[in-house]
Amino acid sequence: MLERVSTGINGLDEILGGGYPKERTILIAGPAGGGKSTFGLAFLVNGILQEDEPGIYVSFDESLENVRADAQSYGWDLAALEEQNLLAMIDGYSERAGLKSGEKYTIQLEVDELLNELIRLIDSIGAERVVIDSITALALGLEGENTKRREILKLSAVMSALTCTTLMISEMRNDEEISRFGIEEFMAQGVITLKYQFGSTGRRSLQVRKMRGIKHSLIERPFIMSDIGLSVYPDEELYDTLS
Ligand SMILES: Nc1ncnc2c1ncn2[C@@H]1O[C@H](COP(=O)(O)OP(=O)(O)OP(=O)(O)O)[C@@H](O)[C@H]1O
Ligand SMILES: [Mg+2]
Repeated sequence: MLERVSTGINGLDEILGGGYPKERTILIAGPAGGGKSTFGLAFLVNGILQEDEPGIYVSFDESLENVRADAQSYGWDLAALEEQNLLAMIDGYSERAGLKSGEKYTIQLEVDELLNELIRLIDSIGAERVVIDSITALALGLEGENTKRREILKLSAVMSALTCTTLMISEMRNDEEISRFGIEEFMAQGVITLKYQFGSTGRRSLQVRKMRGIKHSLIERPFIMSDIGLSVYPDEELYDTLS
């Protein structure tokens, strides 16, 4: 039996029959505003608060200042968790944006540098959960499909060897394209998509597309983001009764 790790999303552990498979890499894919970053933070924050499992968040697409500020919308005080060395936030944004970083941990958009920093921090804070936001940004910096495959595989394999469960966030530009390069979903051991429907209903949804080694439902379910956190409803139809 695969050991499991709680997802931090209400209802998702139930859909997966206990949580993510431990020490694996899961791709979280969705459109702009689909809730991907918040989904990743919920995994880390709830891991710390409920399971005593420290975590690392790597941000390539947004300043950590903004990530911390946005997290307050859910009542999450990331800075307090950082001060207690339960959470480490790696700034991969400033250098890309041509800004001077005031952050404690800073890296360039480069896999080996990322890996070195992760290895160091996993050792120093005992992290068991890692979120890479986003793998799209990281892969964009790599030339050719072979290199992308090799580097993503390396990242996933090293995290697994260090007994970390990793979420890689992936940008979806349309409903058919789970990842930007069409390879990320093959490199990951699991894939979850977060979507929303345009128009008057504007409902969000979650679907487990793949989870190697686990029997799970493939049905798309309602997904709600609210002040009290993120929830998926395993027994509700997609466009049923929820508002
Ligand atoms: N307290 C809240 N309750 C419910 N929804 C919220 C709350 N705060 C923010 N949101 C929603 O979350 C969305 C942003 O979520 P998030 O940043 O996780 O998305 P994302 O998929 O990472 O987006 P991007 O592709 O831009 O990085 C906002 O567009 C807003 O609709
Ligand atoms: Mg985001």
